[in-house]
Amino acid sequence: MKTLLSERELSEGVDRLSRAIADRWDSRPMTIVGVLTGCIVFLADLIRRLDVPLRVYLVQASSYRNGTTRGELTIDVDLGPEVQGRDVLLIDDIFDTGHTLVRVLAELKKYRPASIHSAVLLYKEGRQEVDFEPEFIAFRIPNRFVVGYGLDYRDEYRNLPYLAVLEPEDLNPRAGAGDGADG
Ligand code: IMP
Ligand code: MG
Repeated sequence: MKTLLSERELSEGVDRLSRAIADRWDSRPMTIVGVLTGCIVFLADLIRRLDVPLRVYLVQASSYRNGTTRGELTIDVDLGPEVQGRDVLLIDDIFDTGHTLVRVLAELKKYRPASIHSAVLLYKEGRQEVDFEPEFIAFRIPNRFVVGYGLDYRDEYRNLPYLAVLEPEDLNPRAGAGDGADG
C-alpha cells in the first residue's frame, strides 16, 4: 500500500475545509447528516473544527459491493423532523460516481430543509456519472481505490490514520467472505 495523503495532510485539508464552510455559514445552526460508514473519521475531525451550534445525524447508505466494484444502493433515511426547515450539511467520505450523494440528497429534500449543502473529504477525478458537484471538497484525488481515514476495502482498513492507495496485490479475493454492504 502506498500513502496518498499523510495524517498531517489530511489534518490540514480538514482545517481548510472547515474554514471554507465557516466562511459561508454565518452563525446559523447547522444540521449535519453523515453518510455511514465511511464518513465517521472525517465527520469526527470536521465537527470539532466547526464553531457553530450543530446537531449530528447519521444515515446508512450501502452499496452491496464485491470489493471495489459498485453494486445496488440502499439508503435508510428517516429524519423528517430533524431536517424539515433546517440548514443541512450532508457529509460523505468520497464522491466517486456521485450516485450515493445524489440519492441521499434527493431523500433529504423530501423533508423540505431550509437549505442543503454537501461536503466531501475526497473527490475522485474523472469518475462522475451525475450532474451535480458537492459545494465543499477537501481533496481531489486520482482515480485509484483508496482506504484509511474511514474508507474501507471489504470493511477493513478504516482505522488507518492516513489515506493509502490499494495496490493490485492488496486486492485479495476471499472467496465467499466479506462480500457485504459497506459504505
Ligand atoms: P459513489 O456513489 O460512486 O459516489 O460512491 C460513493 C461510495 O462508494 C463512498 O461513500 C464509498 O463508500 C465508496 N467508495 C468509492 N470509492 C471508494 C474508494 O476508493 N475507497 C473506498 N470506498 C470507496
Ligand atoms: Mg461511503
